[in-house]
Amino acid sequence: MKIREHLTFEERWVLVEHCYESARNASAGGLFLIGNGYLGYRGTLADQRASDHVGLVLTDTYDNADGTWTELCTVPNPLYATIEIDRRPLDLATTDRRAYRRSLDLSRAVWTFQAETDAMAIEEQRFVPLERRQVLARRFAFRAKRDLELGLTVGIDGRVWSIHGQHLGEQRGTIDGDTAWIVARTFEHGYGIAVAARSQVAVGATALLEPGRATADAVDHRLQLRLPAGQTLVLDTFAAVGSSNDLAPTAARPGPRPESLDPLVTHVHDCLDAAESAGYEALLAEHTTAWSAVWERHDVVITGSELSTAALRFNTYHNVIATPRHTDHLPIGARGLSCQVYQGAAFWDQEIFNLPMFMYSDPAPARNVLVYRHKTLAGARRKARRLGYRGAYYAWVSADSGDEICPPYFFRDVLTGRPIRNHFNDWQMHISPDIAYAIACYVRITGDDAFLLQYGAEVLFEIARFLYSRSYLRPDLGRYELVRVLGPDEYHENVDNNFFTNYQARFAADYAVRVYAQLAEHHPDDLQRIAAAIELDAAEPDAWRDFAARLFVPGPDARTGLIEQFSGFFDHEDTTPEALRRRLIDPSEYWGWPNGVAVATQVSKQADVVQLFALHPDAFDREIVARNWEYYEPRTQHGSSLSPSVYAVVAARLGNVAQAERYFSRSLMIDLQDTNKAVSGGTFIGGIHTAACGASWQIAVLGFAGLREIEGGYTLLPHLPATWDGIALSVERFGCRVRVELNRDNRRLIATWRAAADNAKALRCGLGDAVGSVAPGATLTLERQTQDF
Ligand code: IFM
Repeated sequence: MKIREHLTFEERWVLVEHCYESARNASAGGLFLIGNGYLGYRGTLADQRASDHVGLVLTDTYDNADGTWTELCTVPNPLYATIEIDRRPLDLATTDRRAYRRSLDLSRAVWTFQAETDAMAIEEQRFVPLERRQVLARRFAFRAKRDLELGLTVGIDGRVWSIHGQHLGEQRGTIDGDTAWIVARTFEHGYGIAVAARSQVAVGATALLEPGRATADAVDHRLQLRLPAGQTLVLDTFAAVGSSNDLAPTAARPGPRPESLDPLVTHVHDCLDAAESAGYEALLAEHTTAWSAVWERHDVVITGSELSTAALRFNTYHNVIATPRHTDHLPIGARGLSCQVYQGAAFWDQEIFNLPMFMYSDPAPARNVLVYRHKTLAGARRKARRLGYRGAYYAWVSADSGDEICPPYFFRDVLTGRPIRNHFNDWQMHISPDIAYAIACYVRITGDDAFLLQYGAEVLFEIARFLYSRSYLRPDLGRYELVRVLGPDEYHENVDNNFFTNYQARFAADYAVRVYAQLAEHHPDDLQRIAAAIELDAAEPDAWRDFAARLFVPGPDARTGLIEQFSGFFDHEDTTPEALRRRLIDPSEYWGWPNGVAVATQVSKQADVVQLFALHPDAFDREIVARNWEYYEPRTQHGSSLSPSVYAVVAARLGNVAQAERYFSRSLMIDLQDTNKAVSGGTFIGGIHTAACGASWQIAVLGFAGLREIEGGYTLLPHLPATWDGIALSVERFGCRVRVELNRDNRRLIATWRAAADNAKALRCGLGDAVGSVAPGATLTLERQTQDF
């Protein structure tokens, strides 16, 4: 299945690159990334260096090395290797093109590289165990095609690629017997970083590796031997990495500067020993089993479109490896752990784009990430206070402590060279109600009231408090307003009454009031505890109620049905992205605030009004949604990778299947077809667009299959593309799992729901308004006509 020139899928699971393209070097590192929510190891070749965008990104290492950008650290590369044949170095990227193959088996998250010269065939396989998060494992197989002398150097490359300054100092490289070590401290916080690697011949020779260099930048072992024709040498490498934050209590971030790095070294040593004594095959078997469990939950199979199935798996895979499963004090980065772009930190992408897939099909990681928002309340409170508000104003860019790390000057005016003061960090306030929205969805889907009592309610109350303090009461108009904001469309800063922001704010305040009432009635002790902790005055919920009731939310125009994106939007010049592109003096000009070409026009960077429809499918009549979709679509540039998915979900629900398919494909292919530039003006802005990855699942499940919550379960309101014969997916409700296969047979739609045998109760499952009960272990088949939807 062809994706683009030199890139295919095999068997709907394996992504294969058939030819090395130096121009795509940076994006290939992201495409072929392996990771486990704790670390991300870019899919570059074993002999590549920092300039080739090699990267091992380690979570929980936020550090500032250049005075501006706080970002995750990249750490020394423990899978570095160089190969010599007959004492001549081999360049893996330029081996025989006919045999070149770099692949990623998504079914078990295993990276493979194959290459050949006239003397030797090389295969390298690597993976990062899902459950042993600090470990990396790699197996090389070298098969001699003629008698030859093989020279191998394996070890740690300590020269790391880092976007905003060098984070690692006090770097020391040592060799301890068969183990190579690099230990360092981060620039700002002095976190310890330790990387260890150990290689051994598994098959084909009895030779031992000899210690090689041990400098701050390179620590390695060497092997030199004669390999007779036909013989294969197998070399295994086990590596382990860690930061001192792994050993620090998770409650306080930034973590402490450790006095001594000895405990970290011991910890990494133990991880390495445990991996090595398990052995390569056992680790791989364990890892494969762990990934089968992942796919059992998340896999969506589209019958009739193999490419969509495979591409959706690719996107799902990247959403999974970006997400911290192992802890509840870390976020999902907007580029996951694929690189340092966007600082390795969370935006609203996390709640709105990444998390829904987990909420519906594996809620534990979703819970972790929402607990992270509770753990970062202190940072959100600090931001609110600093800007003169109360409650929790969450950071637009949020790392470990929850303090705002979005720099005030984000972009640069390419015409003058002057920095642009973007107000993402102080005006883009929809982040707080978006978090409240995500909590509401999570609780509705899972019924996890314990989460609400322990974490959620406090977050909701602090968000409502913030929203109220951020609003203005206009006595002349008898309403509250939210002014000087930035909605999802980032080209229009400093706007008043953004429809999306106000709707979300009203939703959040109303939900906080409802939760408050629920706690007062059913959990008064918990309410008292929370109220005491945040010094909540009993009159505050009344103020939130008033705010929710009287907040101005722009509505559809009575004549046109159009909803104005913000006050005055329709007075702006009405033009298109194509027309604006022709006005650019320099193609890389920023289109937004304060002087960009889009500012005085109705051209939006990304979905804004339509974004709201995606989150609240039943809030407006179909006709209103359709009219607004038609109006805003030609005026949206999709300058953010978030945008196509939103247009796709809403179009699919409208039954506008052709448009939905177009945007689905666009969203699926953002990384696969490399449609967004990886390097701009010399700055790396690539990496995996994890929001689009998470949203692709949403398009298939919430859009085309039309999954909707109903009382006690789910129903489907499907609009399948003409080329699809069906779709199969798994979801959970209230901790009960169910798989549905939806098939089309001419004009009939047949849905078969199967409930897991160990479900605690029956679920209500449907196809449109035909709904039945599915007991644990039972199956329910329902039929409808396609025209019913
Ligand atoms: O959160 C997004 C934003 O909506 C558009 N700019 C990029 C951010 C990170 O993905």
